[in-house]
Amino acid sequence: IPPPHLNPAASSRGQQVPMATKNSSWSFPKGFWWGVASAAYQVEGAVKAEGRGPSIWDALLHRVTGYSVANETADIADNQYYMYKQDIARIAALGVNTYSFSISWSRVFPFGNGQVNQLALDHYDDVINTCIEYGVEPSVTLYHWDLPLYLQNSYGGWPSSQIVDDFVNYAKVIFSYYGNKVPRWYILNEPIAFCYDYPLPDNYFGANKEIPTWQQPYWCGRHALLAHSKAYHLAKSLGINGTISFKNNGGYKIPLTNSTEDAKAVERAWDFFEGWFANPVFINGNFPEALKSFFASFLPDFTDEEKQMINGTSDVFAHDAYTAEFYFAPKGGVDACVQNISNPYWPLCFGSTYNNPASAGGWVIGAVADPLSPWLHKTTEWVPAFLHFIADKWKPKGGIAITEFGFAEPFESVKTNKPDIVFDSIRSSYYKEYLEGILIAIDEGVNVVGCLAWSILDNLEWRAGYGSRFGIHFYLIK
Ligand code: NOJ
Repeated sequence: IPPPHLNPAASSRGQQVPMATKNSSWSFPKGFWWGVASAAYQVEGAVKAEGRGPSIWDALLHRVTGYSVANETADIADNQYYMYKQDIARIAALGVNTYSFSISWSRVFPFGNGQVNQLALDHYDDVINTCIEYGVEPSVTLYHWDLPLYLQNSYGGWPSSQIVDDFVNYAKVIFSYYGNKVPRWYILNEPIAFCYDYPLPDNYFGANKEIPTWQQPYWCGRHALLAHSKAYHLAKSLGINGTISFKNNGGYKIPLTNSTEDAKAVERAWDFFEGWFANPVFINGNFPEALKSFFASFLPDFTDEEKQMINGTSDVFAHDAYTAEFYFAPKGGVDACVQNISNPYWPLCFGSTYNNPASAGGWVIGAVADPLSPWLHKTTEWVPAFLHFIADKWKPKGGIAITEFGFAEPFESVKTNKPDIVFDSIRSSYYKEYLEGILIAIDEGVNVVGCLAWSILDNLEWRAGYGSRFGIHFYLIK
């Protein structure tokens, strides 16, 4: 039961929410780490500096008109490639103990493989050392979507099996170079997201022409799992003693109505999103049954050896969990959906809706009454429910880490009005309620080991550009 000063009933969107007092008996358990996160492509800029090669995102944003809402690029972004010392000083000043960032593969290998760029290794070495000097633990993601363009053009990127060796080769350089300076590693960021990005939209890009476009996400998924698990075992064989995992992602899934059909839609949603990568890694080395039958006609099953290699390759369940969302059954029924490629619900066979239309992108930011299931709208309710769900379904031995949570600022005034920028009360409410949700779950016995706010500062929100502001620091990018 939350102490009175944390009474969730008192918190609602737009109100100042009392922060926990020093006397609060609630505190994070010993060893709990928390901090802020970013990703190379979204913050670094300096896209042509010190030997960096282009990534697919440079090409997407420069060549495909409208790929980001206002045709923004990441050429300058937050300039973190040059400003990292200031950024890390700010992180230390916040009082958090972790900074999670990613390494740009195309800085280290401008062409994806071949010659290593020493300047890039030196750069990240200094980023890591600066974190350590400031008492901030570095968490490193090896792949946060910025695939070297050359690998896309030469064989089509992740849908091709050639990616596996190239990725493991890159991972070997990174693990060998930084070794045990890094206490937490994330091999891949959100494979669900980067695999569902295939096929890439521009004819310019190289693609694996033998693979029909609709199959590409699932081939990507297969190779992501093989690359991840090989890199994991390699790191262990190199004596890396930090925790190693991949970042899964998705919101807490709630059936829109009490119907059996909607309950089944939620089951499919777990399978086609979180379960796609979590079942192989945490349960049995293989995809969920629903996916296996969907894949049967085109994707080879994993061999027994591959299953063994994949199973158990995460020391912790790292999850990017921003919100809760409703799912419902497809119109016309599942059978019609499965068989009809032009059905808008195909192949996932569910529809979804975020549960709070008042927040940015429909994401939950607090307590909003709803006739369907009022309690589920509260961050302090769905966060612990989700943490319990993950613990029960995937039984991660090393506990759960929330590796991203946050939301983009929805209101125009908060984007431009100084007092709103400074006080940021809506975002504060969200963060406070989310942290309460984690504390509740811990109190109820769930092993939650850490959490990371997305993001340290406003940055390039991929296709949503710079107008979608996730930063806990405001950053004016023109
Ligand atoms: C997911 C991604 O990892 C990150 O790059 C993105 O900016 C945030 N979540 C917010 O959408």
